[in-house]
Amino acid sequence: MVNINKMVTMRKIRKIKFKFFILPLVIISTYLLLTHIFLEMWHLKRNKSNSLSVDLPNVIVHIDLKGTPLKLSYLESLIPGLKKYGVNGILIEYEDMFPYEGRLANLSAEYRYNKSELKRFLAMANKEGLQIIPLIQTFGHLEYVLKLAEFQHLRELELYPDSICPTRLESGSLLKDIIKQVVDLHTEIAPLKYVHIGCDEVFHVNKCQYCNKRKLSNRELFLQHIKSISEVVKSLAEAKVLIWDDMLRDIKPGEWHTFEPFSDVHPVYWDYSPNLQVTHLNLLKYHTKFPDIWIASAYKGADGKTATFPNLKKRFLNHFSWMNLIVDYTFGGETDVYKFKGIILTGWSRYSHMDPPCELLPISFPSLILNLIVIERFKNGISYLKKDDSNIPINTFKRHLYYDLNTIFNCMFIVNEFDYTKCTFEGDKLYQSLKHHNKMLSSANDLLHSDENPFNSIDYYASIDNLNMNSVSQYKVQLNLYLDDITQLEKNIMKEMSKYYYKEFTLEYVNYKSYNIKKQIIKFLKIFNAYMQNKIWQRRSYSNKSAHVIYP
Ligand SMILES: *[C@@H]1O[C@H](CO)[C@@H](O)[C@H](O)[C@H]1NC(C)=O
Ligand SMILES: *[C@@H]1O[C@H](CO)[C@@H](O)[C@H](O)[C@H]1NC(C)=O
Ligand SMILES: *[C@@H]1O[C@H](CO)[C@@H](O)[C@H](O)[C@H]1NC(C)=O
Ligand SMILES: [Zn+2]
Repeated sequence: MVNINKMVTMRKIRKIKFKFFILPLVIISTYLLLTHIFLEMWHLKRNKSNSLSVDLPNVIVHIDLKGTPLKLSYLESLIPGLKKYGVNGILIEYEDMFPYEGRLANLSAEYRYNKSELKRFLAMANKEGLQIIPLIQTFGHLEYVLKLAEFQHLRELELYPDSICPTRLESGSLLKDIIKQVVDLHTEIAPLKYVHIGCDEVFHVNKCQYCNKRKLSNRELFLQHIKSISEVVKSLAEAKVLIWDDMLRDIKPGEWHTFEPFSDVHPVYWDYSPNLQVTHLNLLKYHTKFPDIWIASAYKGADGKTATFPNLKKRFLNHFSWMNLIVDYTFGGETDVYKFKGIILTGWSRYSHMDPPCELLPISFPSLILNLIVIERFKNGISYLKKDDSNIPINTFKRHLYYDLNTIFNCMFIVNEFDYTKCTFEGDKLYQSLKHHNKMLSSANDLLHSDENPFNSIDYYASIDNLNMNSVSQYKVQLNLYLDDITQLEKNIMKEMSKYYYKEFTLEYVNYKSYNIKKQIIKFLKIFNAYMQNKIWQRRSYSNKSAHVIYP
């Protein structure tokens, strides 16, 4: 009895279980599965439509050589990696590294490239399928030309060697010669599709008497110069012309519509900040007068004139913001998605000819690769649910990105910090040496400026013969240790840099980085050494006038 009852009860329980537990579970699972399948299909459909990927036919890396010539063997070694991550061209800014000839010979630095090695490099890049776009400044940023005695008279303002006067006939023939020498060397290797004529940051326009006589507005003068330079380019090569866009930005729409359209000039809208300042109005302006628009980001050289390391987080946000802006971009009144012609990833070596060098290319390579991957991911399609939602899935995106980067560089990128200290890449030894050197300089700087130590009083008290000899001995030892360490680190840096750079630039770089601190250390050591000759001190006196020279 008891057993039968038990069995009946068990059956009942099973029935109840099925009814109240298993059945709902099956229903819920089926529901979830179907929803999942539906969502996947919906995603796939969305992903297939072009509107969620960017279509950038040109991904160009800028190599800035001004005063910082990279060994061409090193540049050659980069090409396969660049291609692998979607690069199809390089924008080369030679500035004073180009082997100019004849009356232009002095434009080149003494340690410029020579023609044969340059042609060899260009032929190799061409064989690998990379297009080359030379960048030749033709309005501002012309210090390497206008600083020279022979071209000094062509400055717009005598004091500033950066801007050329566009009105003087001699300026026109000089610029034509410069363009011709660069274009000719390139077309010996392969035809040029594009020539970049710079024209950014022209700080002095319409300031000289010759320009004033034309009675043109600054804009008219600027645009006429662009027109005449682009005609020079067209007379030398069948190439389209690129210009940086910044001088066009603040032209008002009312003024803008009076200008003639350009048929073969493409503006390159550059913005290197993590939060873009790009305006739709400017894009629309360019859209109405130019056949194509390019954009430019920065993988290095945009985190401060004296930066040693690129800020990877800012560099990532800069590229991510650009991609997010252009994905699915439509102009008001148009239904088709606008196709930007290309992106130039700029990598500045100096902010201008006479500014100090900023981040070095070999240690910025992870930033370049990271941002090429960002672009590639957008090219392959990004699955966000709603484009208008400014809440872009940046965190999901980053997770995928970290996975890629950790695989490539064999390390753990720390989420949100973009710290690549422990990563493996060509240039990592140089990176480590520079990190150590940086740390040593800042610790020496702390010693020299801390309140604990009387360094800020030493100059004065040495002059009135009143230093604590125990401190003097102690600081002398400390400063000598710093000097030895810094010198040793400099040697390491020079050794690592010699893989990528020639001796001249290596010396400049290391001297520049250590100069201030070493100068102070050496000054104090001199004072200490002289002071240690003292055997007798005078009794304190306020009547000794030489003790009060500064504030008598
Ligand atoms: C280059 O500069 C030097 C020194 O100023 C000068 O003597 C020489 O004539 C210049 N060369 C040319 C080709 O102008
Ligand atoms: C050009 O430079 C290369 C590499 O530095 C060197 O081997 C070659 O001799 C140079 N050619 C000339 C003509 O100076
Ligand atoms: C005054 O100070 C100077 C500089 O330390 C020293 O050479 C000189 O002997 C002092 N003169 C007197 C009178 O103490
Ligand atoms: Zn002028």
